[in-house]
Amino acid sequence: MLLSLFIIQTFYFDLSLSVFNRQLITLNWHNDCTVVSTQEPDVSKTFFQIIERNRFADNYKQKRKGEIMNALELLKADHDKVDKLFKRAEATEDESKKHELFEQIKLELLTHAHIEETIFYPTIMVNEEIKDIVLEGLEEHKQAKTLLREIPRLADGSEKFEAKFKVLMEDIEHHVEEEESDMFKKVRAAFDSAQLEEMGAQMETEKLVFQKSYNASA
Ligand SMILES: [Fe+2]
Ligand SMILES: [Fe+2]
Repeated sequence: MLLSLFIIQTFYFDLSLSVFNRQLITLNWHNDCTVVSTQEPDVSKTFFQIIERNRFADNYKQKRKGEIMNALELLKADHDKVDKLFKRAEATEDESKKHELFEQIKLELLTHAHIEETIFYPTIMVNEEIKDIVLEGLEEHKQAKTLLREIPRLADGSEKFEAKFKVLMEDIEHHVEEEESDMFKKVRAAFDSAQLEEMGAQMETEKLVFQKSYNASA
């Protein structure tokens, strides 16, 4: 029985999608309406994410022709942005401003961890020399995510906010220092500029997709 039926208006796009070794959807779109059917409820979500990624990637490449940051530049720019946000939060006496900055930091860190965990880390850890640093990095991500979950659950005015916020900041400083020194150095030696640029473009696209879905679910 068909569980899902979608009518999709779109542009040129050919897609074959196999899930669980089963051909579920085959599409040929030529700027018209295409009917897509599937027996897998989750396919709709996957399917629209694929469309989003392709659309973002096309837009991004068009906008940024010749000026796309490579993977290391992009990650460094993220690190610097979060560092500035932490410094602003540390400097302010205004509690509501600090909470507002925490929300920005949270989004930046979750996005950053997502692109590292889905694109950067899996790509670089095929190199045996880098694998151990990545495994350590993943553990540090887990710790940071625990704090990111705990902080918003604190009662208003909780005295634990400052302590947890400070530990988060110190953990991130330590993590960034390790990535930018040892990890980035080994990645520079093991991957060429074309590979780093490709990873950079993929991560930039994935950031947009992740933040769009984060904002939609907030
Ligand atoms: Fe990072
Ligand atoms: Fe990281």
